[in-house]
Amino acid sequence: MVDKIKTLNSKKAQALLGGGKKRIETQHKKGKLTARERIHFLLDEGSFEEIGMLVEHRSSMFGLEKEKYLGDGVVTGYGTINGRLIYVYSQDFTVFGGSLSEAHAEKICRIMDLAMDNGAPIIGLNDSGGARIQEGVVSLGGYADIFYRNTLSSGVIPQISAIMGPCAGGAVYSPAITDFIFMVENTSYMFVTGPNVVKTVTHEEVTAEDLGGASVHSSKSGVAHMACANEIDCINNLKRLLSYMPQNCEEDSPKYDFEGDTCEPVTELNNIVPDSPNQPYDMREVITNVLDKDSFFEIHENYAENIVVGFGFLAGKSIGIVANQPASLAGVLDINCSKKGARFVRFCDAFNIPLLVFEDVPGFLPGTDQEWKGIITNGAKLLYAFSEATVPRVTVITRKAYGGAYDVMNSKHIGADMNFAWPGAEIAVMGAKGAAEIIFRNEIKSADDPEKKLAEKEAEYKGVFANPYRAAIRGYVDEVIKPEETRKKLISSFEMLKNKAVSPPRRKHGNIPL
Ligand code: HXC
Repeated sequence: MVDKIKTLNSKKAQALLGGGKKRIETQHKKGKLTARERIHFLLDEGSFEEIGMLVEHRSSMFGLEKEKYLGDGVVTGYGTINGRLIYVYSQDFTVFGGSLSEAHAEKICRIMDLAMDNGAPIIGLNDSGGARIQEGVVSLGGYADIFYRNTLSSGVIPQISAIMGPCAGGAVYSPAITDFIFMVENTSYMFVTGPNVVKTVTHEEVTAEDLGGASVHSSKSGVAHMACANEIDCINNLKRLLSYMPQNCEEDSPKYDFEGDTCEPVTELNNIVPDSPNQPYDMREVITNVLDKDSFFEIHENYAENIVVGFGFLAGKSIGIVANQPASLAGVLDINCSKKGARFVRFCDAFNIPLLVFEDVPGFLPGTDQEWKGIITNGAKLLYAFSEATVPRVTVITRKAYGGAYDVMNSKHIGADMNFAWPGAEIAVMGAKGAAEIIFRNEIKSADDPEKKLAEKEAEYKGVFANPYRAAIRGYVDEVIKPEETRKKLISSFEMLKNKAVSPPRRKHGNIPL
């Protein structure tokens, strides 16, 4: 037995070395951790249990039979993060550049199946040169097996991707189907076709970083939800993200025992919105003053900044926040922010995370650019996402709620449970000046002093609609509240709604305007 145990130990030691010391050194020199080091930092100490450590590839093409590494370029298994079960796979760039072989794909699929069967989140740490070129179509099949599982798992268990190296070609589509993608600045990139192909086809000269680096995807394309300064920062953010979500779609969103204050007025909230309706302010100030201290975790911070989305805790209970951002493009709704908001709303709804909306929106962004790119279809995504969400939903109108955007931003009419407005709210079809110009056009035109007449009519319209009371009379707004009462009212509302249960109509699935 002693000899047999020696053999086992030697095999395990070999597996731990992946592609060998030299390649590990190269990985470190690039500022990257190895697959195993990443798992070490991600999971609770000593909790990792590896599955498939001794798996090898089965290919004999192009001399591969002479080059085998235990584990075949991916470390898979399970462990805990803050005591909660998590499944993980971590691609090992030191073995064939982390490329995906048939066996490598089978290992990932096994972990995905276990995660689904046992209802726990899965985290993929991606660092791969793509399909194992020597294996050809078998590798492509392996990718498709993963994509299929990603799709079946969507909305059942949280799926989170970290990109910590290359992720190119069709390989990008597994992370794309998962719920969140976090990237690492300067050492990770994602693209469907790399700089060489781009140069051949479009004659553009572009670096990998400029084409698909972390900052591009977290600001321009929106593919990534966060760009992290380094791998440790990325891992810490993954852990934080998980703390806001349940293990699966059957569980409630997390709640911890909250001992702080739930009733005291938050007077800071009284002074955030400027008197002038055209002056910007940072909606994050409202959000952070309402939530439990330091609990706001913003997602997609640098993309479509005119809407703010993120998680937070309210009296210890995890909630999702969607808020117009007057500090960026006056908080107008455009294509990108509608997509960003809709995807976030759908994630929260899938995983029973209640939704809190802060609204200050002048409408949808006009112009040919937006119309030709499909603001109609894309704006409808946000409308659809809110309308179909069955989690507790509460809205606070802090200032403007104009036009179609009033309906879209979690209005009572599309199923919000509680709607509050601050006393300075303006709920109308459009701003007073625009409205006066249209409905009093003739009167203004024929006036001796058209400017004066316009100002008069603007004031008249404002007097009627630039307040929350027309909506309150109708019950579209449940209560007009002082800003300082907001936290207390929200805590009470979500507590009142905690057992909300609605049955959507029977159907296979809806057809969100994609
Ligand atoms: C097999 C690969 C590999 C691959 C890298 N390697 N990619 N082996 N299949 N796809 C190996 C290299 O031969 C090398 O082996 C080691 O990994 C490290 O690679 P380097 O090139 O030395 O590293 P680096 O300079 O950092 O460059 C990384 C890289 C480059 C940019 C990823 O390796 C690269 O361009 N690889 C090919 C990428 C690619 O075209 N993949 C197919 C995409 S198509 P040694 O023995 O020297 O250490 C695709 C389709 C998926 O993925 C479709 C799904 C539907």
